[in-house]
Amino acid sequence: MIAMKPTGYIDGFIGPIDQIRIPVLDRGFLYGDSVYEVFRTYQGIPFLFDEHYQRLLNSARLCGMHITQTPQQLVEAIKQTIEASENSEAEDVYVRYQITRGEGAVDLYPEPGLVSRLIIIVKPVPSWKREFYDVGMTMSIPHQRRNAITSLDPNIKGGNYLNNILALAESRDQGKDECLMLDAKGLVTECSNSNAWFVMGDKYVTPQAGNLVGLTRTTLMQLFSDAGLEAVERSIYSEELIEASECFITSATREVMPVKSLTLESGRELEFAKGGGSKTRKAMALYTAMIERFVDDNRDKAWF
Ligand SMILES: Cc1ncc(COP(=O)(O)O)c(C=O)c1O
Repeated sequence: MIAMKPTGYIDGFIGPIDQIRIPVLDRGFLYGDSVYEVFRTYQGIPFLFDEHYQRLLNSARLCGMHITQTPQQLVEAIKQTIEASENSEAEDVYVRYQITRGEGAVDLYPEPGLVSRLIIIVKPVPSWKREFYDVGMTMSIPHQRRNAITSLDPNIKGGNYLNNILALAESRDQGKDECLMLDAKGLVTECSNSNAWFVMGDKYVTPQAGNLVGLTRTTLMQLFSDAGLEAVERSIYSEELIEASECFITSATREVMPVKSLTLESGRELEFAKGGGSKTRKAMALYTAMIERFVDDNRDKAWF
C-alpha cells in the first residue's frame, strides 16, 4: 500500500504540506488570532463533521471573528485536499481546518472587514503508542495554571495554545506523557488537548470548570446515559483526586485512553489499574461499539 501524502490547502492552492506557506502578516501567525477544528474519518466517513463546524462557528462568535468562507467552500476545499493526499480507502484521515482572521497591518486591533483565511492540513490519523491503550498513560499536574475563563474562554478553540504547551512541557520534563491542568483556584480543568475523566465512588466524573467542551466527552456522556451508567460534570478540586479509583482522557483522535498514574503537585503518585479499570474498559468498549454502529449506519456518507 502506498502511504498517503500529508497535504495542505491555503488560498486555493493545494499541495504537499511542506509547500503550504502562510504570509507573515496573517493575524493567525502574528497573534494566534485564529480558530480551528480537528476531525477524523472512519472508513472514509467524516465523524461529527457538523458538530465540529458548529463548534468552529461558536469559537468565532466568542472572539468576534467574521468567517468569510461559506460552509460549502469549506467542505469542497477539504474534500479536494483529501483527494490530493492520495490516501487509499484503507487509510483514514485526520483533518485540521483553521480559519485565521486574515491579513492586516501589524496592529493588535482587528480592523473590521478583514477577509478570513482558510488553511487545511490533511494527514494520516495519528497512531498513538499501543502501550497507551494496553497499559495507560502517565500524567502529572504541572505548576502552570490553566488560563482563567474570564481571561480566555477555553471554548474558543483558537490558534494559540501557549498555555497548554507550557503545561505539557512541564509534565514532559517530569518524564510524564500528559499534563492535567488546574485553574488558579485549584479546580481540575483539562489536559493539553483532551478532556479528563475520573471514576469516583461508582460514578464517572468529568470537570465542569475551565475546559473546552470536547465532542468526544459529549458523545461519551450520551453513551453512558443510554447505558444507564451514572456520569456527572462537576467542579473537582485537586484535593479530591486521591478519591479517584480510575482515570482516562478523551479526544477525537485519542478516543478513550486510560491513565495508569497521576502525579500530584506534592509529588504523590496515584496509581490506577494497568490498561484501565473496569469502568474505563467499559467506556472504551462503549465508544468502540458506537463507532462500529456509526460506520454501519453511514456507509452512504463516505467521502472516499
Ligand atoms: C484543549 C482541548 N480540550 C479538549 C479537547 C477534546 O476535544 P474533542 O473531544 O472534541 O477532540 C481538545 C481537542 O482538540 C482540546 O484541544
